[in-house]
Amino acid sequence: MTTLTITPDDQPGEVLLYTSDFDLIQRELAAIGIPMERWRADAKLAPDADQATVLAAYAASVAALNAKYGFQSVDVVAMHPAHEQAATARGKFLAEHTHDDFEIRFFVDGAGVFYIRKHGKVYQTLCTAGDLIELPANTTHWFDMGPKPLFKAIRFFTKADGWVGKFTGDEIAKSFPEYTGAGA
Ligand SMILES: [Fe+2]
Repeated sequence: MTTLTITPDDQPGEVLLYTSDFDLIQRELAAIGIPMERWRADAKLAPDADQATVLAAYAASVAALNAKYGFQSVDVVAMHPAHEQAATARGKFLAEHTHDDFEIRFFVDGAGVFYIRKHGKVYQTLCTAGDLIELPANTTHWFDMGPKPLFKAIRFFTKADGWVGKFTGDEIAKSFPEYTGAGA
């Protein structure tokens, strides 16, 4: 279930809003410049389905997004608890950072949390299968896939190295609750 939890960025325990109402989530995120949409993600894919299989299953969705933005490349990030890179992958974007490019993810399976920091608040957005979220370039955020990561997401890029994380050096992520439940 997709949820949004908003807290002050200096008081992670003070919940200003918690909701699973997708329309409300969409409105709250739109208000800070983050588009989010609900797409269909009902293809049955094996946990270790390869990139070509995932992209083929969602070819129409991918084509629609490419037409909208003119992306240069598309790939699939797929993680499952037994994946040998699970811990490394989780650690990679667990600290606050920005990117030069959009960070656009279409979740086709599983779940993960984007923590988006804007105007003194943190918007913890638990994305699940079917969610399309678009973080514009330079959005301050971090991402937690949890200790037993289980998700597949299609990624879209407009720049060759735009996905590289620029870390802010702020340790805010450590003061926020981690994402613990894959698929929760
Ligand atoms: Fe990121």
